Amino acid sequence: MTQVSETQRVVIVGAGLGGLYAALMLAPRPVLVISPETLGEGASSAWAQGGIAAAMAAGDSPADHARDTVNAGAGTVDPEIARLVTEAARRHILDLTERGTPFDRDAAGDYILNFEAAHSTARVVRVKGDQAGRKIMETLIGVVRDTPSVQVLERVAAQGLLVENGRVCGVTLAQLDGENVSRPITLRAPAVLLAGGGSGGLYAKTTNPPRICGQVMGLAARAGAVMADMEFMQFHPTAMDLGLDPAPLATEALRGEGARLVNSEGVHFMDRQHPLAELAPRDIVARAVFAEAQAGRRPMLDTRAALGAEIHARFPAVAEACVKAGLDPARAPIPIAAAAHYHMGGVATDAQGRASLPGLWVCGEAASTGLHGANRLASNGVLEALVFARRAAEDIATTLPTSGATPVPLTFAPGGTAPDRDGIAQLRQIMTQHVGVRRTGAGLAQAITRIRALDALHGDSPDFANMCATALLIATAAHKRQESRGAHWRDDFPSTNPDLARRMHLTLADASLWKKEPA
Ligand code: FUM
Repeated sequence: MTQVSETQRVVIVGAGLGGLYAALMLAPRPVLVISPETLGEGASSAWAQGGIAAAMAAGDSPADHARDTVNAGAGTVDPEIARLVTEAARRHILDLTERGTPFDRDAAGDYILNFEAAHSTARVVRVKGDQAGRKIMETLIGVVRDTPSVQVLERVAAQGLLVENGRVCGVTLAQLDGENVSRPITLRAPAVLLAGGGSGGLYAKTTNPPRICGQVMGLAARAGAVMADMEFMQFHPTAMDLGLDPAPLATEALRGEGARLVNSEGVHFMDRQHPLAELAPRDIVARAVFAEAQAGRRPMLDTRAALGAEIHARFPAVAEACVKAGLDPARAPIPIAAAAHYHMGGVATDAQGRASLPGLWVCGEAASTGLHGANRLASNGVLEALVFARRAAEDIATTLPTSGATPVPLTFAPGGTAPDRDGIAQLRQIMTQHVGVRRTGAGLAQAITRIRALDALHGDSPDFANMCATALLIATAAHKRQESRGAHWRDDFPSTNPDLARRMHLTLADASLWKKEPA
């Protein structure tokens, strides 16, 4: 029998930027933040290098930012969502500044802005070159620790949702201790906000922290939530290929500074791919990098002419990762690979962050709000997390009275089922081989069959079942979308079909019934 507890706190699943910001927006309403690791560790937000896109420059405007977002998204961005997010961007930069985030400024006090792909102007607010995610998280963690209404439960993960009469009434939680997982506890709660990140770790090549394997999307899908845009996984073209898992990121801002892509034959291969060359939309650059690697012409990022030895001071995270691997980027180009980076799909939400199930809200990468379409504009991810964390918090606040809930005491007992290591490795290999940068109907059909088999074999672990649910949804949506659009490329359907310029909504029940034959 699963132990049951109850709280009057809003439960926030995930302690990345979206979860922490929502907790602060809800204050003084009492919240319980569920963090699978020590606060600040293991969240994708802390690894974000580029920064936050916002129209802060005199000649820029939210309308221009929205237009770039829609154009990059390859025909499936919701223009109303793009409008409301880009209009809210400035306010959030100012708020984070006020809370202590040390954004880079020039002598006049203006924000220094990075240039990133598919933006029509330099628009990305940054911290010390490539430190934005880490510094914003440090700021928010400091504020959260000083906010009495926020209780944080560390090294605990959500495994499922409690649904009664179609309404989300709580979560199932388990404690994590190294490889061991406790027995689950069901916690009844008045509202649940999912902010547990994306699913890049479902792929063998990824820039995401190791824990981020689609568990939170999967648990929502298993509870019956409608999902959207699941086929749209963004592959980053310049993950460093240094034999590390996960692969450290070489931020796109380096290309904004003039770094060039080159192959082992010395050819600047982006020149023949797109008029914007290195600054073409991310999906195009990722496919070109992938093609060079497939052809045996090792792709590399050459920062030497643009930055020389300054890379060490101006992009310390990138330089440090290289040096650790025995490479000095001031002397040699950095080997790169396309790697799963950001999932544009997720739990479908409305403009308030509400999921299809009453009682459930979602923000950050776990959500699919309609902002990113088939190809997210660089540095819009952190922005979306902030804006929707606030919107969801405001919406939750209108539905719940303020109350002085006491801290939640939970005592976990050992004996739960941990996900099978070998099963995870197989899942990641299937996703990279068949649901990766280039897809085919036959490969996707094979992936669907194999994911279902893995789920049946190891499904006694709720975490693994959640991962399989997300993987199955990605593969099924990719199989259903018989065209190429943005980050979703089908070798058997290489053109974009204007009739399919719309978002795809899918439930796990639909995906489980989807036919497996190749298209
Ligand atoms: O290249 C980057 O810094 C990535 C930015 C982003 O994913 O938004």
